[in-house]
Amino acid sequence: MNFLSISKKYYLESVFTPTKSAKLNYIERPEIEISVTRALKIPGNQVILYGHSGGGKTTLIRNILEKQKRNYIVTSCIIGTTVNELIINAFDKLNPYYTSESNYKSSYKISSTLKASYFKIESNLSTETSEEVSHRQVRVLPVQLTFERLANFLGAAECVWVIEDFHKVDDTEKQKLSDIMKAFIDIANDYEKVKIVAIGAVASAREVVSYSPDIKLRIAEIPVPLLNENEIREIITNGSRLLNVSFEENLIRDTIFYSNSLGSLTHQLCYSHCEQMGIEKTSRKNIKIGNNVLKKSIEGYVSQKSDTFQQKLDRALKQRKAKFENVKLILSAVIHLKKDEVTYNEILNKIKQWEPEYPQSNLTVYLKPLTTNENEEILRHDENSGKYSFSDPFFKAFCAMALERIEGEQTIEINIKELISRLESIIGERK
Ligand SMILES: Nc1ncnc2c1ncn2[C@@H]1O[C@H](COP(=O)(O)OP(=O)(O)O)[C@@H](O)[C@H]1O
Ligand SMILES: [Mg+2]
Repeated sequence: MNFLSISKKYYLESVFTPTKSAKLNYIERPEIEISVTRALKIPGNQVILYGHSGGGKTTLIRNILEKQKRNYIVTSCIIGTTVNELIINAFDKLNPYYTSESNYKSSYKISSTLKASYFKIESNLSTETSEEVSHRQVRVLPVQLTFERLANFLGAAECVWVIEDFHKVDDTEKQKLSDIMKAFIDIANDYEKVKIVAIGAVASAREVVSYSPDIKLRIAEIPVPLLNENEIREIITNGSRLLNVSFEENLIRDTIFYSNSLGSLTHQLCYSHCEQMGIEKTSRKNIKIGNNVLKKSIEGYVSQKSDTFQQKLDRALKQRKAKFENVKLILSAVIHLKKDEVTYNEILNKIKQWEPEYPQSNLTVYLKPLTTNENEEILRHDENSGKYSFSDPFFKAFCAMALERIEGEQTIEINIKELISRLESIIGERK
């Protein structure tokens, strides 16, 4: 243990960050950082990062941009976000860069003409009325604010534009997104540092690029894999060093096991392990933490998540009778196979044991959406092995109980205490 790390005090919530990008306890991922850094360096190159939810895309790009001292703004998409909204949002976020040139990591100089043009558009935007689009108030994009113009504004501020969750943009808008990327490729002749980094769900990269073959060559599509076991272990051990605690080896191993490659679960469980021991910040004396805290940490996570779990399952099941029946069968089959990962054929055979006439095409149709962002990746589909598994092992346990108790088309509310008492046997088969 080095002296420096003990002499500094860190708060628990800045070391273990289940709902935020890790900063202090960020674990470097050299291989992928090299490819992202290379892609960011080349002028005119646009970047798409894609991968499973929870794989660390947001955390990775933020840490790389900070390390490289790049200026950047982040715009997040929600379902139904239009490209016009993205442009306005980015324009708003640029305001501080136009108000002061001195506070930023990379220094830049904006001409007075460009500044004047920025503020003119800004005043138009604030006086312009909004219009109603599908029950939301949306600001009208001033005619002068084209995406080429936005690229100019960003370029002069030497700013990278991070667009989070672009897969949520409607298909009809994706063509425009592709046009915007083209504008950013072209603007590199004038401004070398400007570029878009678009972040999307697993297998979403093609959605944008496929529209225009001419821009394909200038776009680096980089997959971000889930955190591997060593990286998860490092989050645990590095965090414990920062707080001056020592987790017992079997607690570390179990925490890795239950995290199931999801960094947010690791951060959540470790936060809770420490909280139970009364650790709020770096401890003066090294404190040992044993495996006895695990049960409570799991219980805490499951009870905190119970409403979310219920909604997630309801969303996957409800709407139409056919969907309800099929999703119920598929999830039940994955659970009843009592294995961590299962193949398409295993699912099909299991369902056929219950319903011999079950059409295979139904499985194909209803399985896919369970693996996409539409259903928050209830099931993880590993493209290399072709196998399916539950992303969150605790949600699997929740489904195991909930699906047993469906009556008619109603899912019965799960009693969390009962779920917790059965948790071990329900998740146990993975060990
Ligand atoms: N390299 C890393 N080091 C430490 N924690 C990480 C790392 N990558 C991700 N995490 C943690 O994992 C969780 C999910 O990461 P996030 O970046 O939000 O994933 P994504 O954007 O791919 O959905 C967050 O709680 C984050 O703090
Ligand atoms: Mg993210």
